[in-house]
Amino acid sequence: MQIAKKNSTPFYLIDHRALEQGITRFQTAFRKHLLQSRFFYAIKSNYHAHILKAVVKHGWGLDASSGRELNLALKAGAKEILFTGPGKTDDELRLALKHADKVILNIDNFSELQRLGKILKNKKITLRAGVRFFSKLHEDWSKFGIPLKDLAKFWKAAAKISNLRLQGIQFHSSKNFTPERNVKIIAELGAYLKKHFSAAMLAQIKYIDLGGGYFPDKVEGTYLKKGKGYAPIRSIDPQEFARNIRAAIKKNLDSLVNCEYYLEPGRIISTPAMHLVLSIVDVKKGLAITDGGINMMGWEFGKEFYLPIFNLSNFSRHELRFPIYGSLCTPRDIWGHWIHAKKITSGDVIVIPNQGAYRFALAQEFIKPIPQVRMLD
Ligand SMILES: Cc1ncc(COP(=O)(O)O)c(C=O)c1O
Repeated sequence: MQIAKKNSTPFYLIDHRALEQGITRFQTAFRKHLLQSRFFYAIKSNYHAHILKAVVKHGWGLDASSGRELNLALKAGAKEILFTGPGKTDDELRLALKHADKVILNIDNFSELQRLGKILKNKKITLRAGVRFFSKLHEDWSKFGIPLKDLAKFWKAAAKISNLRLQGIQFHSSKNFTPERNVKIIAELGAYLKKHFSAAMLAQIKYIDLGGGYFPDKVEGTYLKKGKGYAPIRSIDPQEFARNIRAAIKKNLDSLVNCEYYLEPGRIISTPAMHLVLSIVDVKKGLAITDGGINMMGWEFGKEFYLPIFNLSNFSRHELRFPIYGSLCTPRDIWGHWIHAKKITSGDVIVIPNQGAYRFALAQEFIKPIPQVRMLD
């Protein structure tokens, strides 16, 4: 409320303490079970410099998905940068090469390997790299990487490029509420490596990158049918993710490889690090309109998911059923149907907490400008 009194709304509010807690909690959970783990925060979930610098300060690397993000990672002072993603252009590959002391390139496919081979030809620099694969468990996410069955073929093709040091294997699965999918993919990978990789090839594996996708617990919900309320989206604690993943590695990979395990968490770190602060502009019969909308979010999340909304000016523990809309010219620009409020009046300050992931990063100058970022002390 104090910050909202001093600054005009809407704004993003960085919560440094929550960010620090999130980093420590995730790191402690994985280090406890998986000693040889390294962390690379996924910039795409929130690229704000404060967040990037905070994770770097903890000794983390950064996971970049484009030349733009690679430049942001360099600017934030990252010493280790993974460059992962489909559709890397030749210019982006050259940028990675220019910073080969810091960058490890997770190669997406055979065509990228071929282009990289041309760019590396006659260059004195050696580039460290990994390769991304997908398995049948990735379903419609199979746009990314090569099929697992082609891993050995890829490994042999990469060996022909003398200054490319292929040393890692990566996969990523999104929106994990439990470790089940990761556990299954690790088992698939183990079985494949056992069958198709020679001892010499196995010895070249320095890292296996398990990607990100760890979903935060109870920050939003799904709407139930026919206006019957909502159910919070639940996810397992990072401790449990780490314990199960460690067990899968022990069972399927420990006898084959002696390597580090990389993690690329995005949303579990950035979600609690940023809140949205807005004001109610007008109250009409049965609905209210705020001073920001999908320009802050980039997409109609409030239409699809329940987000908790708190009226700071007239707070109540109880939720009123009262639709709160954004101010942009689309009927889908809605924050939600419930608000913790005693009453709702024009000028009320509201907060939508834990909106750090894939909101600020998706913001757009659609009708209204992208709001400023403030700090919660
Ligand atoms: C390769 C890769 N790593 C990490 C992430 C981060 O995922 P999350 O923010 O769900 O942790 C993503 C997200 O799409 C990704 O594509």
